Amino acid sequence: MLLAPTNLDRLTARRKQLLTWMHSLGGGVAIVPTAPERTRNRDNHHSYRHDSDFYYLTGFSEAHAWLVLVAGEVDQSILFCEGKNPEIEIWNGVRWGPEAAAEHFAFDLTHDVKDLDTVIPQLLVGQRNLFSTLSRSAQPDLLKLLQSWLTTAQRNVRDTRALPHQWLDLSDMLAEMRLVKDASELATMRAAAAISAQGHVRAMQAARPGCHEYELEAELLYHFRKHGAQSVAYDSIVAAGANACVLHHRAGNAVMHEGDLVLIDAGCELDGYASDITRTFPANGKFSGPQRALYDIVLAAQQAAYDKTSPLHHFNAGHDAAVQVLTQGLLDEGLLQGSLAQAIETAAYRPFYMHRTGHWLGMDVHDVGSYRSPPASTEERPWRQLQAGMVLTIEPGLYVRPAPEVAEKFWNIGIRIEDDAVVTETGCELITRGVPVAADEIEELMRAR
Ligand code: GLY
Ligand code: MN
Ligand code: MN
Repeated sequence: MLLAPTNLDRLTARRKQLLTWMHSLGGGVAIVPTAPERTRNRDNHHSYRHDSDFYYLTGFSEAHAWLVLVAGEVDQSILFCEGKNPEIEIWNGVRWGPEAAAEHFAFDLTHDVKDLDTVIPQLLVGQRNLFSTLSRSAQPDLLKLLQSWLTTAQRNVRDTRALPHQWLDLSDMLAEMRLVKDASELATMRAAAAISAQGHVRAMQAARPGCHEYELEAELLYHFRKHGAQSVAYDSIVAAGANACVLHHRAGNAVMHEGDLVLIDAGCELDGYASDITRTFPANGKFSGPQRALYDIVLAAQQAAYDKTSPLHHFNAGHDAAVQVLTQGLLDEGLLQGSLAQAIETAAYRPFYMHRTGHWLGMDVHDVGSYRSPPASTEERPWRQLQAGMVLTIEPGLYVRPAPEVAEKFWNIGIRIEDDAVVTETGCELITRGVPVAADEIEELMRAR
């Protein structure tokens, strides 16, 4: 992937911010691996996805790479990556190699990854702290490798006081940095959101009674790849009829019948950033009365959560608002009895709404970042105040499984409506509204099939 110089500036600024933070703790060496390759079967691998923390700091998407930052007398930003190898490149494609990577990604130094075991122990000498993505890295050997590099360094120096005595986790600091997106990240997320929204339009237009879930999954995938997205951000959920009540139902063989609702929760990943959209629509293009009643409740709950998604509110305000609207709707439809206050107090709505109303979105679909205010304390921490540049989903739902105490007309209705919101100075902007959400607009789109 080619990086524009402005993006390079952002990468170096992120590394600098991390180095400044490391200095504030006494300096040291930070070691950040990318993700390992994973075997699918025999010598066949899953398609490769870099580690998000590593990519955030490097922009480098090849496997077998490590970032080392030295916050010392002279700060250094060092990449270890695979060396050039014409024979292997015939099979697996062109690699950057250390020399080209140094210039292209603005590293002070680069090495062949084969040299990790000799170079890292040397870099540890004279440093106070050893930083790494200890609590989050997918690299299974990280702790073993850090230990072995320290052991080698100990063998090489007379005075082991000259070696790091503290291991510190980078993960929380990186999560804080990643939580607020910069302009180039937001531009990528908008582009991903637009592709995904159009993919949902395409799937809605392709839906008919008799269609299989996997056929709509294929429409989504076709659209995502056709428009340059590298992959899905998560396995697409396409759920017909009763399957919509299974929150993470993977698109399968089920057929959508006349009278069924279809729930699609799908989003593409573009240049390392996720999008995450859910729409629910009738297979035949026309909501039934009970479907429409519940649909409009979920949409009103989403609007209520949207209204609380602003820097004036904390992360959970949207969830509280959605729960109020959903619970009142369940009472109005006779799915719950009693008062609103009591139904919320006793969580009587939970059999119908058992998940939260949103999550951070970014490089990871459930992105990093604490939902509570920093710093940590032993008492329960308050919910985090929203801030311009944060991105989160707003995704209320209602799921009605067959049960004797539930009116049959509602059985097997599963509805979720999910959009991606960028928090702005004054509120938030939904970046996924390229696909209709009002029931009338969905019906109109489907009439035009
Ligand atoms: N697609 C997963 C989620 O909505 O959280
Ligand atoms: Mn989501
Ligand atoms: Mn989703």
